[in-house]
Amino acid sequence: MPAPHLSRLGTPLSPSATKVMLLGAGELGKEVLIALQRLGVETIAVDRYPDAPGMQVAHRAHVIAMTDATVLRAIIEQERPHLVVPEIEAIATQVLLDVERDGLAEVIPTARAAHLTMNREGIRRLAAEELGLPTSPYAFANSLAELQAAIEAGIGYPCVVKPVMSSSGKGQSVLRSPADLGPAWDYALGAGRVKEARVIVEGFIDFDYEITQLTVRALDADGQVATHFCEPIGHVQVAGDYVESWQPQPMAPAALQKARAIAAKVTAALGGRGIFGVELFVKGEQVWFSEVSPRPHDTGLVTLASQRLSEFELHARAILGLPVDTALRRPAASAVVYGGLEARGIAFEGGADALQVPESDLRLFGKPESFKKRRMGVAVANADDTDEARRRAKLAASRVKPVAG
Ligand SMILES: Nc1ncnc2c1ncn2[C@@H]1O[C@H](COP(=O)(O)OP(=O)(O)O)[C@@H](O)[C@H]1O
Ligand SMILES: [Mg+2]
Repeated sequence: MPAPHLSRLGTPLSPSATKVMLLGAGELGKEVLIALQRLGVETIAVDRYPDAPGMQVAHRAHVIAMTDATVLRAIIEQERPHLVVPEIEAIATQVLLDVERDGLAEVIPTARAAHLTMNREGIRRLAAEELGLPTSPYAFANSLAELQAAIEAGIGYPCVVKPVMSSSGKGQSVLRSPADLGPAWDYALGAGRVKEARVIVEGFIDFDYEITQLTVRALDADGQVATHFCEPIGHVQVAGDYVESWQPQPMAPAALQKARAIAAKVTAALGGRGIFGVELFVKGEQVWFSEVSPRPHDTGLVTLASQRLSEFELHARAILGLPVDTALRRPAASAVVYGGLEARGIAFEGGADALQVPESDLRLFGKPESFKKRRMGVAVANADDTDEARRRAKLAASRVKPVAG
């Protein structure tokens, strides 16, 4: 017998409601919430600041420090959702482990997955040491001296240093020689989410391209979890942050097979239901595991245009125990719209020009505050091939002009 919230969908705001709480309500959470709303789910958005994108489309919203275990536990007890869906990494994941153990709610995909992936050390050790997946050579360091020793002992130059708890490239640098050591250490220390002096240092992988292999664990007709793969997504990162993505990324058959074998293995180890963004580096037929998000991935915004069901709809279906379809509809690309200025309540001009671009579409996230390098929106576009789709998406994004409100 599946859990009641998996065998039926209720009416929101009534005793039969199927209730889902999103922890993190940014642009990715907003799209998940919209997908859930369409299935008649009662939605609760939680984030650390008011008017977060997802809060604008949820039935209820709560502003809390999600890293505060007591406050997080209290809000889950107050709302009693069937499902708790982490959208970001910066969460007091011990609470999720407790909530799952106490049977208070189901954590998506699992509390352990959220716990392991919020720290680069947890997921790297699982992937490389337990599962034996190919990764860059790596070491951990708690001081500048340890970092230097690790590099000299074998990681070598060039290498990449990242705080163990950080995302979107924050605190990350590429080191080309010993002269880069001090600045990299200082930068990592200043940018980590938690003021803990711990970094991972990875050998630099000189890849041909990198992909996100979206992988969905969803129930099949027999009620068993089956693994589904989307077409690979290619992307460009600048300073560790995604600026454009496209789907499908052409791959040598052997590389694609390896990518999917790695994705199947790591997602099976994390368990549960939902979508995962498995990040992989590819050189010829060689494939390295980099990291995995147990949730929709930012580079997967392209699926709003490319797939019959976007990664957000796939996530919504999978977590509710519904069947999925990962089919590509038409090649597409996405290009990020940055804030460009530091201000609250900005406006966007040029939307009409942007949408003159053939087969284009626009998402403006509605973030209350803009920063120069904050992702405020995304343009997506379809075309016969990804080269043309990329050109169109970038053109559309470039026509959107953030201005003071
Ligand atoms: N070992 C590495 N070798 C080469 N490039 C890397 C390496 N690690 C990270 N990068 C580059 O930096 C990007 C961000 O790194 P990642 O580990 O994914 O951090 P984040 O969690 O911030 O996304 C990657 O997508 C890749 O482009
Ligand atoms: Mg990444």
